[in-house]
Amino acid sequence: MRQDEIDITYENKTPTSKRLFARGSKLFAGGINHNVRLFKPYPFFSERATGRFIFDVDSNRYTDYWMGHWSLILGHSPKAVVRTLSEQLRKGTIYGTANGTSLELAELIQKLMPRAELLRFCSTGSEATMYAVRLARAKSHRRVIAKITGGWHGFNTTLMHSVNYPFHSPEGTGLIAEEEQFVESLPFNDLDSSLKILQSVIDDIACILLEPVLGGAGCITPDIDYLRGLQEFAHKNNILFVFDEIVTGFRLSIGGAIQKYGLQPDLFTLGKIVGGGMPIGVVCGMKEIMALADPTIETDNEIRCNIGGGTYSCNPMTMKAGLATIKYLDENKDEIYSKIDSLGAKARSGLTKIFSEANINTHVTGEGSLFLTHFLNEKVRTIKNAVDVALSDQKSLYRYHLALMALHQIFFLPGKMGAISYEHTEADVDRLLLATQAILDSGIISN
Ligand SMILES: Cc1ncc(COP(=O)(O)O)c(C=O)c1O
Repeated sequence: MRQDEIDITYENKTPTSKRLFARGSKLFAGGINHNVRLFKPYPFFSERATGRFIFDVDSNRYTDYWMGHWSLILGHSPKAVVRTLSEQLRKGTIYGTANGTSLELAELIQKLMPRAELLRFCSTGSEATMYAVRLARAKSHRRVIAKITGGWHGFNTTLMHSVNYPFHSPEGTGLIAEEEQFVESLPFNDLDSSLKILQSVIDDIACILLEPVLGGAGCITPDIDYLRGLQEFAHKNNILFVFDEIVTGFRLSIGGAIQKYGLQPDLFTLGKIVGGGMPIGVVCGMKEIMALADPTIETDNEIRCNIGGGTYSCNPMTMKAGLATIKYLDENKDEIYSKIDSLGAKARSGLTKIFSEANINTHVTGEGSLFLTHFLNEKVRTIKNAVDVALSDQKSLYRYHLALMALHQIFFLPGKMGAISYEHTEADVDRLLLATQAILDSGIISN
């Protein structure tokens, strides 16, 4: 089956989405409100979602592995969250004043992630990483931020750097070169080269900021010694070590990557899961750094770091949804993480076996409940960083994901990693494997 035949099947199944996308294209640049959600021929429009399923406006039901940008670890609309949000809805959606639920959520995060000595809630991950950068610069009195080549931390200005291949060109217009000179990019999983780069700017580095597992860049797991090496270098040289746990927090374990890998970042950011399906970002970490954000510090004494929170920060809907989710995760952690991690392992090993038996060179990456199939070629034999992903056979990956969606009602955002929720079952993973086999049998992807 050719690409255009897959497209035609998709278009036949999604005529209403096609019409809505045409209408949306007159309203939104590119027809969408998040660049990553755009795919060809057009994205379907969703009508509702429950458990592990998402339904489009043409009544197609997809088994969802995108799961709200990997946020929904308990599935769509879990009972505990629906109940608390229905109650809160009647009591108000935003007070614009302090509320007690924020204390309960913060205390629970602190119990599970003790390095969150102080926290600040905001409404997106992009804001949280922006505040982390500002705090790191405020604490260190230095300017340079070292990030990972391909690392994605949201659309905030500072970190919109080396995100897309070839990684050394500006990430679009509107960004100022003078500002970009204060960001250095490190090759993931290559400690020697990373340390050389860090050494070259050592006098001016504020922090090393990274995702412990590269998510948006292609589900790339870390060599633990790489993370340890960066942390050691940072701490030896008074550089802040900052984890962006917006994907990995509460995903890799109840204590996130910090607990899983036994590391000690000075600051870290959370988002996605901790909002329980509502908008959130959190910047948190060591008291001596976070305390710089205390607004009672005089502004003229050169200590205070002004970070925000925003109009909707800490709103009671998000706080309730987040609290219900994290409480549920905490109370059922053994069962939840062993289930989603074993389904993730089953998906990775099952896919690896199917592709290798079909003599198609792939590397299925991931950890715990996250996974992504990379199609290898003569340039890329294994996936260890974002350059490998960019040079791998992206066309086959898109075709594979589109075929899963159009022919088998299984939804991965094309090109992006999948996340398993507590609602997914063994049978879902079996169906994914069968669908993959059927796609290979029909010759949609070949060597
Ligand atoms: C690791 C990481 N950091 C930050 C962000 C930005 O979060 P948000 O989209 O909520 O602004 C994302 C979003 O996908 C992310 O994956």
